[in-house]
Amino acid sequence: MTDMPRQHITQKKIAEHVQRLGELYPPIPLDSVDRTIKRPGLVAKKFGHVIDYLARVELEVDRNVLELLVLLPDADETNKTFYADVWQPQEIQHGLILDRLQQDLGRAAAEPHLEVSFPIRILGALANLKPIQDIARLMYFLTGASTERQAVLAYNQINRGMQELEETAISETIITPIKQQEPGHFAFYQMSATAMIQDKVLRPWQLFLTRVMREKSYNLVGTNQMKNFKADMGGVVVDLGFDSDLEGYAREIGRVENRLLWAHRQGMDFPPYILKALRESVDLYRERLERGLKLA
Ligand SMILES: [Fe+2]
Ligand SMILES: [Fe+2]
Repeated sequence: MTDMPRQHITQKKIAEHVQRLGELYPPIPLDSVDRTIKRPGLVAKKFGHVIDYLARVELEVDRNVLELLVLLPDADETNKTFYADVWQPQEIQHGLILDRLQQDLGRAAAEPHLEVSFPIRILGALANLKPIQDIARLMYFLTGASTERQAVLAYNQINRGMQELEETAISETIITPIKQQEPGHFAFYQMSATAMIQDKVLRPWQLFLTRVMREKSYNLVGTNQMKNFKADMGGVVVDLGFDSDLEGYAREIGRVENRLLWAHRQGMDFPPYILKALRESVDLYRERLERGLKLA
């Protein structure tokens, strides 16, 4: 529902959550993976593109850390512990494990995009001003909540697919352990964003600006505002079957910001810019497919 959670999210609660994540989920060691693949050709055909995409995005965690250092020069202890001791060490293992899987499937190694973009650097320069820093922080938490939710949904779907293909080793020693770690990331961002709204950290003009900036800059996970990656993401959406209900998918990945930023828009299911980004990605993917067919 669109209601604010009744519970007040305190900083202590967030800190405890981070500590628990660190204790419960150590980074997954590469050698814990059983590399048995029964039908590599079939797995590659059904999930090759999706695994390529996720491997690259997970490996881009190192850029995300750089962005975070640029955007949040004054990050507190909880945030530092989260990204340095929990999140980065977990995500980089996801990336390494998936990158090896894609190569086991006969596909090229991932090429993560590790350069911090120009808009982020601009925002980072402005973020030295306290009111902008608060806006950047909320944007960062909202982005985290939306991208981690996309990760949760993707891994759930892949896992179902791997089980159907009876690829037990992939399902049990790769996807399941990875997928267990994503909801904790989502919860961290969700709680952090919620706390900022509950504590009224932002003045109305700051919230207004946050909404405008979300509308202008919302990006699906891993698209890095680049056309090629947007088309790739469209392929992921289609391969995982989310295109049959794009609105339902938009509702899932936009729930946190719909509740926190757009509560005054009664009856809105999700912020429209999310569905727009999804449609754009799927369209770019389909156009690319058609171009490929014409060339063939
Ligand atoms: Fe991950
Ligand atoms: Fe994650």
